[in-house]
Amino acid sequence: MTDSRAPRSQRPRSRPVIALDGPASSGKSSVGAAVAAALGLRFFDSGLLYRALAWAAIDQAVDPSDGPGVAALASSVAVEADEDGRLERVVIDGREVSAEIRTPDVDRVVSAVAGAPAVRATLLVRQRQLVEAGGIVVAGRDIGTVVLPAADVKIWLDASAEERAARRALERGIDPASAAGRAILDDLRRRDRADEGRAIAPARPADDAIHVLTDGNTLDQTVAAVIGAAATRLGATAGGADE
Ligand code: CDP
Ligand code: CDP
Repeated sequence: MTDSRAPRSQRPRSRPVIALDGPASSGKSSVGAAVAAALGLRFFDSGLLYRALAWAAIDQAVDPSDGPGVAALASSVAVEADEDGRLERVVIDGREVSAEIRTPDVDRVVSAVAGAPAVRATLLVRQRQLVEAGGIVVAGRDIGTVVLPAADVKIWLDASAEERAARRALERGIDPASAAGRAILDDLRRRDRADEGRAIAPARPADDAIHVLTDGNTLDQTVAAVIGAAATRLGATAGGADE
């Protein structure tokens, strides 16, 4: 894969790009937003785009595995920044759907949407446009490998499937040991398999990614670990002035 950006060592560090990849519910959005706030960077969770298209496909009765059909819906999706520079407001055809895209109905079809070559090609262009100015933490599955292979820092966040599913269940007010909690674990494992096994841009750590395992960590501990890893890669100027 070629990249037209200047080599890592020649780019200014005032607007670093941090790629934060990992499997479902590994903490990418909560950790990413906190790291971005601490380092004075913007934040973008690329999963929003795939979720938005999955929601639009359900809404428009388009088959989620019809790649060209789903990709055609991308022009109706807008991602807007909040006052802190977090790109997290999702608007489709003028309607805000930021909450609707995070439901089990979307979880069920989003990997089929994300496996389609036409969808990935369309969203690749979209993601690069959104992060073009730099100074940003970008969460996803293939940010360090495909979307931004020249990122200054690459992190792979991970935890056991059980811990990740329990976190997702608690976030949705569900007892992890209940039938609904077990369904979340089953769905998370199915989605991990689909994301890791797809032919295009499978979810995997970049060869030069720093692995951060979060089992048993509090959110603050994980945020500190990621900031520490970023500082190591960025040198003494992490998030600060140019070299
Ligand atoms: O929040 P969670 O980790 O459960 O999922 P997400 O990050 O919102 O991503 C939802 C889905 O979008 C994933 O299961 C992937 O199928 C897809 N995705 C992707 O393929 N590539 C990305 N860079 C981000 C998300
Ligand atoms: O974005 P992604 O799906 O990777 O994960 P998330 O939505 O940021 O995190 C899923 C849930 O796990 C959230 O409720 C986080 O607050 C929680 N979490 C946690 O309890 N401990 C961590 N070290 C990381 C996340």
